Order: sequence, then structure tokens, then C-alpha cells
Amino acid sequence: MQFALKRMHWSQFIRIASIVSNRHIEATPMHWRTRLIHSEATVPGGFASLSTPVYRGSTVVFDRQASVADQWRAERGYSYGLYGTPTTLELGARIAEMEGARHTFIVPGGQAAIALVYLSRCKAGSHALVPHSAYGPNREMANGLLRQFGVEVEPYDPLVGEGIARLIRPETSLVWCESPGSITMEVQDLPAIVAAARSRGVTVALDNSYAAGVLLDAFALGVDISVQALTKYVGGHSDLLLGSVSVRTDQMFEAVGSVWHQLGMAVSPDDCSLALRGLQTLGIRLDRVGRSALEIAQWLALRPEVDRVLHPALSTCPGHAQWRRDFKGSASVFSIVFKAHFSGEQVAAFIDALSLFKIGFSWGGVTSLAVAFPDLQRPGIDYQGRLVRLNIGLEEVDDLKLDLAHALQAMALTTR
Ligand SMILES: Cc1ncc(COP(=O)(O)O)c(C=O)c1O
Repeated sequence: MQFALKRMHWSQFIRIASIVSNRHIEATPMHWRTRLIHSEATVPGGFASLSTPVYRGSTVVFDRQASVADQWRAERGYSYGLYGTPTTLELGARIAEMEGARHTFIVPGGQAAIALVYLSRCKAGSHALVPHSAYGPNREMANGLLRQFGVEVEPYDPLVGEGIARLIRPETSLVWCESPGSITMEVQDLPAIVAAARSRGVTVALDNSYAAGVLLDAFALGVDISVQALTKYVGGHSDLLLGSVSVRTDQMFEAVGSVWHQLGMAVSPDDCSLALRGLQTLGIRLDRVGRSALEIAQWLALRPEVDRVLHPALSTCPGHAQWRRDFKGSASVFSIVFKAHFSGEQVAAFIDALSLFKIGFSWGGVTSLAVAFPDLQRPGIDYQGRLVRLNIGLEEVDDLKLDLAHALQAMALTTR
């Protein structure tokens, strides 16, 4: 105490004295250390920036005790940065606007979005239907964590359509959909699935990442929850990880919101700011990559090395009729299956010979990507390493075709 007193600045004594004597002293000088925390510096107001500012903040300050609120519904006022800052909430509001949602929760990534849906719709004893074509880590979570928590998970054929009715049981709480499916690109008959699920009171959730929330109107088709990996097209530049969970009704808002709040799914306002920037160019990027991808898919379909092109806009893609009926366009990602006489080693040689196409998983950015799936199987189909997924970026199509042609040549020259 003695030591602390010795180190006190004279200005603090004045302040303390004023508090003790309960007298008001105008402009009492404060120690510079205190000033560092409680500054009175001002800047002019009225900076009308065209872009959304990045609001970083955990603690929210209330003007008086009576206005202190400890709740997660930001529409009732801010309480904690975890439940929303103006930056994170603006991103949510804009995704909700695009998708026609009641509300959009922003979460740390696409996989986190999937987890939030499972944890808010499934409980011990319930039954969930998940398509064979769902994103791999999604199926892993369903078969791992969910089963561990006592949820029965049943895989189903993504092309089941109205046949889903036969799989729905009294304890079914969720039908998961992903359209087109990951890697094998099956386009699902969402209206048929929704009709069967809705009449039985079962929630339908859709991984809507391929359509970026704009090429498919999930809520118009009756889906209850639409999930996006914003990491893909909304981010658009392979430099952020975010996800969204959009809900259609007040009831779903409360159900998902209370779990979102309990899980503490914090997101970075900096990443949200990048995603807000990404939204501004989403339209032009999607148009361009969609056109380029289709042109390259059609070109590959004519190549003698290629057995099948799995692109939703081509009739060779399973569920192509559903794509024509429900989608407004196609995006950047599709797969090719090489003819049966090629070996997995030759396909690897094809990938390694590419130069503009980089080898990587996370699609939706401006750079073209290619990746083979050596162990990929679907019920009754073993691709034996002959399936390659491509993401088409913003490079010139002719340059990409040259790169592919050169790699196809290298593949043919590689011995089995
Ligand atoms: C269809 C789909 N959904 C979800 C995810 C997961 O997104 P994230 O990587 O942001 O967790 C991915 C990632 O590749 C994906 O392809």
C-alpha cells in the first residue's frame, strides 16, 4: 500500500479528494494511464463510408443499469459481441435478404453451419436421413457425433425423390439435402422431398452452398433451413472461412437461435467484412465462372479420355431434369469420370501435369482447382480413382483448355 501510494500521481489525489469530499471539480486532470482507457479525444462525426465499418467488440456498454439485457436476440438490442456486432449482423441480414429468409445466423464455417442444424433439430432417440452424396465431413459428423449422442442416422439415395416418404418414421426429425451433391453432383428433387417431409412434420435442411443462396430459391421450394459455406462463393477469394444458417419461420428462428447461442459460435467481424465485400462481386463472378465451367464441361465431354461429365447443366448429370426445373443457373464446380481403362496412377499423373489448375479442395474462389478422389465410392459404384473434381476460376477459358489438354496428353503417356 505504501509503495502504491508513493507511485500515485498528484492529479489522482485531486480526483480522490474530490470523491471523498463529494465536491464536483471541473475538468479534474486524470493520470495518463487512466486517460489511455478513458479518453476524451473526439473526431468529427458524419463519415458516410460506402462500405460497412468493421466493428470489433466483445463487451457492449449500456447507458444505465436498467437497460442491461442479457439475451442473444440482437433485434432486441445489443448485449454481447458474441451475439452480433453491426458488421456480423449486416452480413446475416444481407444473406437473409438474398435467400428470402426470416433470419440468417452467421457461423464460423460451412461445417459449423451443418453442426448447428443437427444440434438444433436432432436429439437422442430421433432419426435423421442424410444423402449418400452429402459433403464428406457432414456424413462423418452424422455417423460419428450424432450417433454417439443417440441419434439414428440413415443414409439415403439422393435421387430418391418422393420415395423419401417410405423412409420417414414417427421419430424422424430431419431430412438433410445437398443439391447438387458433393463430388458426384446428384441434383435432388427438393419439392418431392419437401412434400413428403412437411406432411409428416419433418424439417428439411439444405446445403445450398453450390447455388450461393441465389441460383436456387430454397425457401420458395419449401425448405425449412438453408445452409451455406460462405467460404465458397460469397467469400470468393479463398481467404476466409464462414458459414450461414438461414431459417424460414419464427419457430425455426427460436429453435436454431437458442442452440446457436448456447454453442457460442463466434465469428470474426474482419471475415464478415471480407464476405460483405465478396457479396458485391458475387453476381459478376458467378456469371463468369458459370459460363466458363459450362464451356469447359462441354469441351471435356467430347474428349476421348472422358467417360462422363457430372455437370448439372448436362444431361449426363444425375438429376439434370431437376436442375432444369429448379435452378436459375450453374456454378463453377463439376466432376469428370475418366474411361475405365485409365488407372488411378494415370489420373494422378493428369492432376500433377496441370499448371494453371492448382490441386486443392475448397472451391468457389477465383483460381481453377482440380482434385482426384482415389477412395471415392457410392453404393454400387467404385470410381477406382477415376473421378476428378474441377473448380473453374476467372482465368481465360482457352488457357484452361490448353492446360487440360496438355495434362490429358501426359496422362495418356503415363504407363498404367
Ligand atoms: C457442400 C459443402 N458444404 C459445406 C462445406 C464446409 O464448409 P467449410 O469449409 O466452410 O467448413 C463444404 C466445404 O468444402 C462443402 O463443399
